[in-house]
Amino acid sequence: MTQLSFDVQLSDHARTDAEREQVLSSPGFGQHFTDHMISIDYTEELGWHNARLMPYGPLTLDPATSVFHYGQELFEGLKAYRQVNGSIVTFRPYANAARFNLSCQRMAMPELPEETFVEALELLVQTDRDWVPTTEGHSLYLRPFIIATQVGLGVNYPSRSYKFMVIASPAASYFTGGLKPVSVWLSTEYTRAAPGGTGAAKCGGNYAGAFVATRQAVEQGCDQVVWLDSHEHRYVEEMGGMNLFFVYGDKLLTPALTGTLLPGITRDSILTLAAELGLEPVEGRLSIEEWQAGCESGELGEVFACGTAAVVTPVGFVKGADRAWTIGDGTPGPVTMRVREELVGIQYGGRPDHHGWIHKI
Ligand code: PLP
Ligand code: COI
Repeated sequence: MTQLSFDVQLSDHARTDAEREQVLSSPGFGQHFTDHMISIDYTEELGWHNARLMPYGPLTLDPATSVFHYGQELFEGLKAYRQVNGSIVTFRPYANAARFNLSCQRMAMPELPEETFVEALELLVQTDRDWVPTTEGHSLYLRPFIIATQVGLGVNYPSRSYKFMVIASPAASYFTGGLKPVSVWLSTEYTRAAPGGTGAAKCGGNYAGAFVATRQAVEQGCDQVVWLDSHEHRYVEEMGGMNLFFVYGDKLLTPALTGTLLPGITRDSILTLAAELGLEPVEGRLSIEEWQAGCESGELGEVFACGTAAVVTPVGFVKGADRAWTIGDGTPGPVTMRVREELVGIQYGGRPDHHGWIHKI
């Protein structure tokens, strides 16, 4: 395929400096969007074409568009950071591009060349660079996604046309409580993913099916859901938008990628960083009984969740239908904080990047 070139149409209605500063003073998460967006179309005849940077705004779609009915959609999530020396970077964007294409394979959608994926991010961030927050710990969250755009209700074949887009949203901390440990609810009633299903793909349907359990978690006084294996509802998989790590002394255990959980890029980065931090990374299996027993004996002192949006977030309390326990003393543990500082240090430029993860915009 020849390299796509982007048509650039700048917004006539870009927010003023004062309006932008107002948003950036308290961005929340995923509530405000920058002045532009990326759109690229795909048809079987033309392949990827019509690549544009354009003003941020609503889409007009026929009510019979396939995505509204059969949910053929998937997305990615990564961030642009303003580093301590002022440069703007993203973290491992080619890893997101590769996972995007793995998700596309599972959802019978066309893959996008990794170079185009990254170029789209670069163009949007360059154009809206004033939206990358300067406040420590804040960032510009980037949301690439793809939807099926064929009009019609036939369900015997995947859509023949698609639209890829990228939008960007300034972000503070994902959890409003800052670094306060989160409480989690063990979902034994609902299942997120089963072998052969879509658990390893970042498709919207995985999240739609999870909301009922998230609501249940909140009703139980918890912040988040922990998903368990679909067969026995016993082995830990991941959380709604994060992977999990269990700290046994110097051992850092995370559930293995069995095909039913999302292969998190933060998870992979932490596994790589573990040895440098004097920790032994282990990909394995952990039951909820082992989790509880480990915490009660003191052998398992810390648990943390990790993901692009959540960064590294301590887990302090676990509740299930017939059990509940506290992790450590309910405050963020030293290993959790060390991992977090190392990762955040690389992302914001305070620590050296030995792995070529930082991608300058
Ligand atoms: N698991 C789920 C279900 C997620 O939505 C996410 C967030 O993207 C993660 C794990 C963590 O992935 P990453 O570290 O690539 O953000
Ligand atoms: C992310 O961390 O990028 C996520 O996708 C988590 C959530 C916002 C869905």
